[in-house]
Amino acid sequence: MLALLVLLGFTSVSLAAPAGSSDVPAKVDLLMPDVQPKLPDTYLCHKIKLDSTDTYITGFVPNADMNIAHHMLLYGCLEPGSDKNVWNCGEMAAPNPLFESAPTCKSGPKIIYAWAMDAPSLVLPKDVAFKVGGHTDIKYIVLQVHYKNVTKFLNGGKDRSGITLQTTKKSLPRGAGVYLLGTMGSIPAHSTVYMETACPFPGKNLVIHPFAYRTHAHTLGRVVSGYRIRDGKWAEVGRMDPRKPEMFYNATTPHMTVKKGDILAARCTMENGLDHDVAIGATQKDEMCNFYIMYWVEGDHILDKSYCFSPGPPTWYWADFKGGDINLAARPKDISTIPGTDKPLVATETEKFGEMAAEDNAEQEEDVALESLLDQLGADELGSILGDMEDRRPQRREEDDEYYYGYDNN
Ligand code: CU
Ligand code: CU
Repeated sequence: MLALLVLLGFTSVSLAAPAGSSDVPAKVDLLMPDVQPKLPDTYLCHKIKLDSTDTYITGFVPNADMNIAHHMLLYGCLEPGSDKNVWNCGEMAAPNPLFESAPTCKSGPKIIYAWAMDAPSLVLPKDVAFKVGGHTDIKYIVLQVHYKNVTKFLNGGKDRSGITLQTTKKSLPRGAGVYLLGTMGSIPAHSTVYMETACPFPGKNLVIHPFAYRTHAHTLGRVVSGYRIRDGKWAEVGRMDPRKPEMFYNATTPHMTVKKGDILAARCTMENGLDHDVAIGATQKDEMCNFYIMYWVEGDHILDKSYCFSPGPPTWYWADFKGGDINLAARPKDISTIPGTDKPLVATETEKFGEMAAEDNAEQEEDVALESLLDQLGADELGSILGDMEDRRPQRREEDDEYYYGYDNN
């Protein structure tokens, strides 16, 4: 209780530019204010409010020890998840008597950085920056730290893990953004399943330059891979075993661009050796299938639509994509191959859901999973995902009894 009261005493730090030095690079510390998490697997969030002039983030310097912090994530938010200086957050957060539970962001969450396992500093490419504060819709930056092992804190230790942002007030010519591909769906007991998503590139006149990627799954993920499909040709953005440190890695195809007419696609290959089915959801017992693309653009207009979610198995696969020529026949052979191994993991044949009842069931499960996703996403994001999924739900054709996927790129 004392710890809680002490923590409540802190106020948000304001990110103010040093007077009269608007183009001098500044370091901004976003560090936990001497917290004492006492339960293993505590996720704590801490925020800073940005000031009313545009700030450009050009690099991230982690200050953490992998023996204390399992991972750290930085989110930009329109509104932070809590008014508190420190709160219990994160998709897998269990109730914690010491800290109030709240989502990372209340609205407009945008992931901008991830650190794990003593990853080194990340410096964005030359002239590239995340534009935050000022007139952007990122008014706060929230640091999330996952404390896996808390023994140090049981004996009175305190923690200041966090990230030092390298910032400047000087306008930089290239803006950075993150695009997230993911699925809903479920993985039957004792099976290997492909969770797939694909979307037509949403930018109209925009060209994006992917330069880094990150994968995320829980315990069943074996390979997560992402692609750009242009004129029926597949190019890999990244492919990773999600059990490896979940940080941003360099894109595997350098100097790639994505523009109107291209398709972005991702697959998570999941292995469920358990006796029960596992669905996408918010806790560690559930699963997730996420592929993040970090990109830059010329100018500062990044993508408005930054999510590509599908209903996932058993209702949606790449074969159901209707938004362009995905040319599945030309897909790479190693999509489901764990890097460093030489054989792909092959999906188990599963029953197709043909019955109305089964279909209804699947939709119900999906809705439950969506509710937990709500905790993570703001209204705008969820709205766009729901709109997307609504378009993709199987619809009954008038003339016959077959289902088709009414996703149209118009
Ligand atoms: Cu972690
Ligand atoms: Cu997750």
